[in-house]
Amino acid sequence: MMQQHCNVLYTQEQDMSMEEPKIAVPHSIKVQVKPGDILLWCTCGRSDTQPFCDNSHIGTGFSPIEYHATEERIVSFCGCKHSHNKPFCDGSHKTLEASNK
Ligand code: FES
Repeated sequence: MMQQHCNVLYTQEQDMSMEEPKIAVPHSIKVQVKPGDILLWCTCGRSDTQPFCDNSHIGTGFSPIEYHATEERIVSFCGCKHSHNKPFCDGSHKTLEASNK
């Protein structure tokens, strides 16, 4: 049985048809989290505090995703903003790197 390690809340409906997120970095960003941590994962790719939100999304169609850690662990957050399992890296960045060559 898979152990649940977090709760992920979508703070707003994302209208991804309007705008593509910026590729902040073409790889995952590993972060040590602990129970009780509440983190806002950047969805627009514009934040200077990757992988987290610095409010650079204001005025875009993007909103951050709220992540609640429930155990101490290292989380591999998506840095390319194209994961299909946001806010986590799912390997989609490998496809983006290949298409940009
Ligand atoms: S960094 Fe985005 S899927 Fe891996």
